[in-house]
Amino acid sequence: MSHSCKLLRGRVVADVILNKVKGELQRMHCQRSPCVAFLRVGNDGASVSYVAQKEKMAHAIGIKSILKIFDPTQVTETQLMEEIKKFNLDASVDGILVQAPLPKEIDFVNVCNAIAPNKDVDGFGAENLGRLLQGKSGFTPCTPSGIVELLKFYNISPAGKHVVIVNRSLIVGKPLAALLTQRSMWGNATVTLCHSHSENLPQLTQQADILVLACGKPSYFDANFVKPAAILIDVGITRVADGSSRGYTLQGDANFKSASQIVQAITPVPGGVGPLTVALLMRNTLKAFKLQNNFAA
Ligand code: GUN
Repeated sequence: MSHSCKLLRGRVVADVILNKVKGELQRMHCQRSPCVAFLRVGNDGASVSYVAQKEKMAHAIGIKSILKIFDPTQVTETQLMEEIKKFNLDASVDGILVQAPLPKEIDFVNVCNAIAPNKDVDGFGAENLGRLLQGKSGFTPCTPSGIVELLKFYNISPAGKHVVIVNRSLIVGKPLAALLTQRSMWGNATVTLCHSHSENLPQLTQQADILVLACGKPSYFDANFVKPAAILIDVGITRVADGSSRGYTLQGDANFKSASQIVQAITPVPGGVGPLTVALLMRNTLKAFKLQNNFAA
């Protein structure tokens, strides 16, 4: 980094959020701990690692977890939904999360819609996504809320700014666009959503005051894709094979070396958006616990 490019340390912001959740839980003196149930299909390396990180963090701050693992060659959409329905009815379970991706035979959206709205800690179900679009309270997906928390922490207002998001998923792009276009203090942005059919991508990303990358193209977005003094938020986390003992390194979508010469601020990978997703899941789980137990949420 020859010019001064600020590092937006998601991990620091995540720690602040986690400490708040932990402190609040301790002060509540509850009869039982909150509990989140994870459903994971198969042993995809990244999914195994993400769920393990979520469970580890939950335990560290006083949240219990249950993990159900399904064989991808056996499990059906109906069976997953049956498991979810059991958790919906189980008063000792506050939150339910189905780790994406699922095998292609299973419709992730159908599965998310089976989760009771007041236990839908990922916020991908129809009711919570609908409420988000309506500007009503509910569960907001963790990665988009994490990005808003990052902007707040570093006092980067999106209001009036052009935010370009390279992702149209229910997990990142669509809910983030909804949050950032809300008529509210940390909204009021102009948002462009780009995807695999977008023509002339560099021309679009070059317009961004705030550029959010989440398309799984490791180190693809270099200096040619960014505007001077832009804010770059890198949600990409791809495992790229290397000669190390672990076998891979984690790479974001940004070519960090190249893009950081131009932009004003950038999130690192790892240590950027990833820890925020986990922290916001803990905050949503505490919220679900309060809803289930008649505390003011
Ligand atoms: N896969 C990638 N990100 C996420 C996430 O935030 N939640 C779930 N359930 N699956 C994911």
